[in-house]
Amino acid sequence: GKVRAPTHIISTISDDRGEEPTYAGVPMSNIVEQGLGVGDVLSLLWFKRSLPRYCARFIEICIMLCADHGPCVSGAHNTIVTARAGKDLVSSLVSGLLTIGPRFGGAIDDAARYFKDAYDKGLTPYEFVESMKKKGIRVPGIGHRIKRGDNRDKRVELLQHFARSNFPSVKYMEYAVEVETYTLSKANNLVLNVDGAIGSLFLDLLAGSGMFTKQEIDEIVGIGYLNGLFVLARSIGLIGHTFDQKRLKQPLYRHPWEDVLYTK
Ligand code: ACO
Ligand code: LMR
Repeated sequence: GKVRAPTHIISTISDDRGEEPTYAGVPMSNIVEQGLGVGDVLSLLWFKRSLPRYCARFIEICIMLCADHGPCVSGAHNTIVTARAGKDLVSSLVSGLLTIGPRFGGAIDDAARYFKDAYDKGLTPYEFVESMKKKGIRVPGIGHRIKRGDNRDKRVELLQHFARSNFPSVKYMEYAVEVETYTLSKANNLVLNVDGAIGSLFLDLLAGSGMFTKQEIDEIVGIGYLNGLFVLARSIGLIGHTFDQKRLKQPLYRHPWEDVLYTK
């Protein structure tokens, strides 16, 4: 028989060898003809399966709501400074993307991990939050620089509304809301933020859709797929900020001396 030379790469999500490329086995023409969207394509390429329509729609809403949050946030600031230093699109984009992490936009995976662990262990919000405090870890998905108990994040409300109307169960999200009720009793800035809302709701999507085994959910949460949603979404805004600065022909940015505390 034929002897197959060992390959150096294994790939399971897409194939460009046939007449037309496929995503998780689905030909591109099907995707276009069936009127599928970005949420469906993401499902095929990230989760290797088609998800029910409400799941794909939820993914699209996450992408739309996280696409931008003004010029003052960490990512946009970096992108703007980089574009004004005369750098190209990709450099300006990645400069902004590099700020995404545990404090800014990249707390989704940890929020999902900690909320899941606490809920599955049956911890009360009090026990969960106080155990995090003892460990010296800030609760991922809780807290915001400008959002407050009396000035909630509209994005969180929109995501919660969609999920309550479309998901079969929102048990993890309701747990996150109970955690928020407790943290808000401690300080007014400790709201459930958009990372925490997406993290907890994605747990509900994974568990409630019936499309994933327990082992697959643990793998998704373990590997950390969910920060990818913010990276993907915010790239839209960061690219926009780059074009904006170029269009406005903005000069090199230099931070004003008056805004620095020079001290020994
Ligand atoms: N859990 C517990 N306590 C907290 C938390 C939290 N998540 N966030 C703030 N606090 C408390 C702490 O006591 C903190 O004091 P410390 O500095 O002694 O730890 C106090 O509130 C004040 O914190 P600040 O540093 O003033 O809060 P800031 O406004 O700088 O922080 C931030 C905002 C970075 C979002 C913070 O709340 C945090 O680290 N949250 C967890 C990470 C997270 O979810 N990030 C995503 C934010 S949403 C987004 O980026 C799209
Ligand atoms: C964002 O989406 O960029 C924000 O929630 C972060 C911020 O500081 O407003």
